[in-house]
This record gives sequence, structure tokens and C-alpha cells, in this order.
Amino acid sequence: MRVQGNLFLVTGAASGLGEQVAKSIVEQGGYVVAVDINAAGLEDVVRSLGLNRVYSPGSVDVTSENQVQEAIKKGLNHFKESPLAGAVICSGIVWPPQSIKGYGQDERLTSYSQFKHIVTVNLLGAYNVAQQVAQTIMDHKPMNEDGERGVIITTSSMLGLDGTLVGYGTSKAGVAGMTLPLAKELSEFGIRVMSIAPGPFETPLVRAVPGVEAPVSLFPKRYGYPNEFSDLVLHIIGNPMLNGSVIRLDGGLRG
Ligand SMILES: NC(=O)c1ccc[n+]([C@@H]2O[C@H](COP(=O)([O-])OP(=O)(O)OC[C@H]3O[C@@H](n4cnc5c(N)ncnc54)[C@H](O)[C@@H]3O)[C@@H](O)[C@H]2O)c1
Repeated sequence: MRVQGNLFLVTGAASGLGEQVAKSIVEQGGYVVAVDINAAGLEDVVRSLGLNRVYSPGSVDVTSENQVQEAIKKGLNHFKESPLAGAVICSGIVWPPQSIKGYGQDERLTSYSQFKHIVTVNLLGAYNVAQQVAQTIMDHKPMNEDGERGVIITTSSMLGLDGTLVGYGTSKAGVAGMTLPLAKELSEFGIRVMSIAPGPFETPLVRAVPGVEAPVSLFPKRYGYPNEFSDLVLHIIGNPMLNGSVIRLDGGLRG
């Protein structure tokens, strides 16, 4: 599938990996519905990339069915000439808000409320977007001789595959685990599903906790750059044989 001329819904588009994915899609001649809970961040992205290329429906919480539905509707209305061809789901959180307390000594352990919050944003939020975008695409005319209609790309994490951090790791294991069953379910409609599991990348998220330093890759000995993530996203969009898999993007690091 080509990026050029097609419309993609990108979540987490106000920052880090999602912001870079939005930029890369625009550079390739595509269009973006930029979704994030951070409306101010989205405004900056739209200002730098142009309203003719990127549309922001304002603050959208990926855990809300109504807000995601409304975002898709407004996005389609803004880009009437460009068919929705997929979603790149980059929204996510590592830690729950401070208002949701842990348990045990110094409240360091993961409480049910914390667990529920992280799983809701990272796993249920990702499925909410994936399902609604797939539902929008499934009735489209196929765009090529393979019968392709779209692609859903989620963001898991090295920590989900290697089993680190109860709330975050479990939510990201769920995102990875959803890839093949969802690809099987959507295959009859020509919609592919892929997931990327990054190691530490140079974004605000990886620097979120002062005093906690994420390890660098085995090689190269540094954090990943966001454009190395978006390069893989573009490749997945373009390569129809990539379906139902989780790709590690971690420079050989294990969590
Ligand atoms: N940066 C890394 O090292 C790394 C490593 C592995 C996986 N990931 C994953 O990659 C994705 C992107 O991370 P990033 O590093 O760009 O982080 P980031 O914090 O820069 O961006 C995440 C974005 O998600 C948005 N978001 C959070 N909750 C939301 C919600 N409920 N609804 C809508 N938007 C919401 C935030 O506002 C933010 O703009 C995340 O899913 C993260 O878990 C990142």
C-alpha cells in the first residue's frame, strides 16, 4: 500500500514516536488525523505540518468510544478526497497518574487501580482505535490487486515481550498478543495488523521518571531515534507480506 494520497489516523501524535510518524507520513505525501489527549501539543503539530495535511479534532482520549468515533468522523469530513487506509497507534503511558496510589511499603507495588488504568489506556485504548478504524475501512473498495484495504500498526514494547513492569509490561504483552488474532479476524477484509515492540527511544516518555535511567541498546549503544521507528512504520505500510507479526526494534536489548 502506498502512503501517498492515503489518510492514516495516528494516535499519540502530539509527542515522541507518534509525532514523528505523523511527520513521516506527511513527508511521503500522505494525510493524517492526529489523535492525542494533549490538545495543545496537537495544535503545534498541525501548525508545523499544515492543516491541509494534518487534522486534529482536539483532545481525544483513546479509551472513549464516543471520542474516537467522533475523531474519525471529523477526520473523514476534513479529508473528503483521501480514503482512510489505516491507523498507527502510538498513544501510551508507562506510569499511572500520581493520584492513583500503589500498595505495600511506600506504596511501591502495583495496585489494582493502577493496573486497571494502565491496561485501559494501553490495551483497551489501542483496541478501541483499531476496531473503529477497521470498521470504517472494511466497506471500502480494495485499493490494489491483492484486495488490500488497510493496515493497523500498534506499538507494544520490549518490556511487554520480556516481562518487566507489572502494569505497563502486561498491557504491552496484551498489545503484542492481540496482533495475530486480530490479523486473522480482519484478513477477509484485506486489513493487515502489525505491532512494533521498541526498546528505549529518545522521547519524553523514556525520560519521564527523574533518576531512573533506561538502558541503551546492545548495539548501537544509544537510544533509538524516533525516525528509526517511523521508517519501520512506513516499511510496514508499504510491504503487504508483513502481517500478524510483532517486530522488535531494540538494538538487541532485552528487558
Ligand atoms: N519511547 C520509548 O522508549 C518507548 C519504548 C517502547 C514502547 N514505547 C511506546 O511507544 C508509544 C509512544 O511513546 P512515546 O515514547 O512517543 O511517548 P510520549 O509520551 O512522547 O507520547 C505518548 C503520547 O500518548 C498520549 N496519550 C497518553 N494517554 C492517552 C490517551 N488516553 N488518549 C490519547 N492519547 C494519549 C500522550 O499525550 C502522548 O502525547 C507508547 O505506546 C509507548 O508505550 C515507547
